Parts: sequence; C-alpha cells; structure tokens
Amino acid sequence: MGIETSVDHGGSEASFTSAIIAIEELAKIDPSVSVMCDVHNTLVNTVLRTYGTKEQQDIWLPQLAGSKLGSFCLSEPASGSDAFALQTRAQKDGDDWVLNGSKMWITNSYEAEFFLIFANGYKGITCFIATKDMGVQIAKKEQKLGIRASSTCTLNFDDLRIPAANVIGGEGKGYKIAIEILNEGRIGIAAQMLGLAQGAFDKAVPYTYERKQFGQPVGTFQGMAFQIAQAAVELETARLLTYNAARRKEEGKSFTKEAAMAKYWASVVAQRVSGQAIEWAGGVGFTRETGIEKFWRDSKIGAIYEGTSNIQLQTIAKFIQKEYS
Ligand code: CAA
Ligand code: FAD
Repeated sequence: MGIETSVDHGGSEASFTSAIIAIEELAKIDPSVSVMCDVHNTLVNTVLRTYGTKEQQDIWLPQLAGSKLGSFCLSEPASGSDAFALQTRAQKDGDDWVLNGSKMWITNSYEAEFFLIFANGYKGITCFIATKDMGVQIAKKEQKLGIRASSTCTLNFDDLRIPAANVIGGEGKGYKIAIEILNEGRIGIAAQMLGLAQGAFDKAVPYTYERKQFGQPVGTFQGMAFQIAQAAVELETARLLTYNAARRKEEGKSFTKEAAMAKYWASVVAQRVSGQAIEWAGGVGFTRETGIEKFWRDSKIGAIYEGTSNIQLQTIAKFIQKEYS
C-alpha cells in the first residue's frame, strides 16, 4: 500500500515500474484488488508524494502505507469526461474551508478513511485532504457488472469543514494536480487490464490442451491454435505499450500520449482475450465454476474509468495533429 513511498514513511521505496508490475500481478488473480491497489498507490499516494507539504507527508504517508485506505474523488454526477466542470463548491470560512456537493463513482470509498477531494472555489479547482471522521458521507454503493469486490460509492458533502492545512498543492492548483496524476494513473489501469487478460489466458489455455474432442486436445485444432497465438501477440503488444509508458515516465520523458495508448489498447486486448478465453473453454467457460467469465465482466471497466476509450483516442489524436500540422 506504499509501493513508491519512502522507507522513512513506512513504504517500500520501489520504482513506478514496480508499482505497475504489482498492479498487473494482482489483476491476474483479482482485478478488484488490483484497482484498490492502483487507486491507493498511483493516485492517492502519488498526489501526496508529489504535491504534499513535508508536514502532510509526515502525517499521512505512514498511515496510507499502513492500514488506512485512500480514495481519489474527482468525478461527479454531471462531471465525468468533462472532469473539470465540477459543481462541488469550496468556500473559505475563517481558517477553514467548507465544502458542499457530491462525488460519484468513487473507488475504495466504502472502506476508505482518507479522501482527496477536488472542489471549485474562487480561484478555480483546489484539492483537499479529508478524513471520514470530518463528516464525509458515504451514500449509495453501486451494484456493478464487474469489479464487484471493489467498492464504488456516491459521496455527499454537507458543510464539510476542512482545515486550511489540508489544502494540497495550493489554492487553485487542483486542475494541474488532477491532470498530471491521471496520466500516471492511466498506466496503472493499462497494467490492470494487461494482468486481467493474462489471468484469463492462463486459466483457459491449459484447459484447451486437456479437453479432447474428435480424439485430440481442442487447443491443437488450427482454428483454436491460431486464436491462441493471436491472443498471445495482443498480450505482448499491451505489455510493451504499458512498460514503455512506465519507462518514459521514470526517465522523465513526456508520456501523456504513450499512457493514453497503453490504457486504450490494454482495455481492448483485455476484452478480446477474456471474451475468447470463455469460448476456448466452451460451456464450462460460461459458468461461474472456472472464473473466466469474471475476467470478461471485469474487463469492461477498462474502457470507462480514468478517462473513457474515446477520451484516450482524443488525447492521442491531439498529439498526432500537433505533430503533423
Ligand atoms: N495531460 C496533460 N494535459 C492534458 C491532458 C492530459 N492527459 N488532456 C488534456 N490536456 C490539456 C490540453 O493540452 C489542454 O491544454 P491547453 O489548454 O494548454 O491547450 C487542456 O488540457 C484542455 O484540453 P482539451 O481541450 O483537449 O480537453 P477538454 O477540456 O475537453 O478535456 C480532460 C480535458 C478533462 C482532461 C479530458 O481530456 C479527460 O481526460 N477526461 C477524463 C477525466 C478522467 O480521466 N477522469 C478520471 C477520474 S479518476 C478515476 O476514474 C479513477 C478510477 O476509475 C479508478
Ligand atoms: P460520460 O462522460 O458521460 O461519457 C458517456 C459517453 O460519451 C462515453 O462513451 C464517452 O466516451 C463519450 N464522450 C464523452 N465526452 C466525449 C468526447 N469529448 N468525445 C467523444 N466521446 C465522448 N472517478 C473518480 O473521480 N474517482 C474514482 O475512484 C472513480 N472510480 C470509478 C469506478 C467505476 C467502477 C466507474 C464506473 C467509474 C469511476 N470513476 C471514478 C468515474 C470515471 O472516471 C467516469 O465514469 C469516466 O471518466 C466517464 O465519465 P461518465 O461516466 O460521466 O461518462
């Protein structure tokens, strides 16, 4: 829970690529646990490590590397892809800030004790640290198609009072914080989708060499073998895009376009490979027995959160236009 957090703050002080690989490995078994780890590390911890004051880091990073779970609260009922059209308001009141509004779709929020909340105020969007005991109200828990072990709730803020010391990165700096951190987070989701696709592949492929029809293992029919080979190629392309984006980030190179490409493509591959994996296992693939169908249901979210596939394509397209016009 503190993969990149310094040892002094109770973390592992590992690299960004290590965090990406941890997210990938967890997703091979359970994409819900993977996204819990992803949001907590690549969004919440990273905001604190990058923009937090020494005092904020000293207080919060050890708790987040320990038992406290964090949430990243940007989206709202009327502000999803248009992420900065926020209606949650922050108003100064003496030394405090008072927040009113609501957030929607917040991962980890049912269990979380620590919330990074983006709200609109006089100087634009500001990022605040809030804790559950300050009065963050956890409302509706969504019933979802996939990643059902990951909580997703609506949050309400009714005169939520936050001390000025809990502003992170400075007043009006929330837009910059969110946009920069989401680029890193997108590599995390690419890793989640990559791990998920590998997990489905690893479950289904051995079955195709055990299951016999017409006197031979079904995986050795050319129609099946070529599908499996094609899926292995797709997995490798997703892996290389994801690791390349992580490498560029670590080397301090631009990585916005590469992160968008990795997230977009890994989400496509996850849906394709997990869908095919069900078919490779035949009837049993369609049952809950093998767990393959769960990977397929979990794969759908990759094209939606941390920027939909259209938003990733829009980001990539803008880079191409800049390069070629
Ligand atoms: N990185 C850096 N800068 C970016 C950027 C990016 N990824 N995308 C856009 N920008 C910059 C543009 O270059 C532009 O800058 P200038 O004004 O200097 O030219 C500016 O931002 C505005 O960009 P656009 O006009 O292209 O875009 P927009 O205003 O229509 O939308 C956006 C911008 C809100 C960032 C949108 O592209 C976007 O990413 N929406 C998705 C929001 C999102 O990812 N939410 C995730 C919530 S957290 C979450 O989901 C966690 C989870 O599930 C687990
Ligand atoms: P909309 O923005 O309404 O999009 C609807 C459709 O319109 C999509 O197909 C989209 O691609 C398309 N569209 C929108 N704008 C454009 C455009 N300019 N060009 C082309 N097509 C467009 N948010 C958080 O802040 N924190 C979290 O922890 C978090 N976790 C989430 C967990 C889950 C399970 C889910 C479902 C969502 C989560 N989100 C979280 C919110 C997520 O980031 C948003 O759902 C996502 O950004 C899309 O916003 P939206 O749902 O409002 O869809």
